[in-house]
Amino acid sequence: MSEPAQHTLLILNGPNLNLLGAREPDTYGRVTLKEIEAQAKATAKGFGFQTDFRQTNLEGTLVDWIQEAETSAAGVILNAAAYTHTSVAIHDAIAAISKPVIEVHLSNVFAREEYRHHSYVSDVAAGVICGFGAHGYMLAVDALASMLRDQS
Ligand code: DQA
Repeated sequence: MSEPAQHTLLILNGPNLNLLGAREPDTYGRVTLKEIEAQAKATAKGFGFQTDFRQTNLEGTLVDWIQEAETSAAGVILNAAAYTHTSVAIHDAIAAISKPVIEVHLSNVFAREEYRHHSYVSDVAAGVICGFGAHGYMLAVDALASMLRDQS
């Protein structure tokens, strides 16, 4: 792995997360994705990592980015949003790479509709964080950074 990749956490966000702050605030809070990006960057910096923070509404783009992590990042933090509950392609992309993936959800998906209780990501993820709102991303940065530190 090249030097920058070794110190990069790839943080991927799926559909509708670009609307955070305005979208269903009772469920997802009022923090915007831009604010989460800035907080995650600062948190990662404290652990000696840089972040590459992205959002897309497209399933195939998430698949491309997960594949890319194999050479461009030390690990991945993934909020696949609604694709969590539907995407075998995202499951397979995670299974195909050797880098750890931490699954994140702002809301507690287990306290919500039954169709959100199943995740195609969880069984190929290194760990799952849900229900802590935007702070979940910082918990994920902490968890991934310690995991990577222990591995090296
Ligand atoms: C979400 C939970 C998903 O069920 C939902 O489709 C989302 C956001 C979360 O962060 O709580 O879009 O991943």
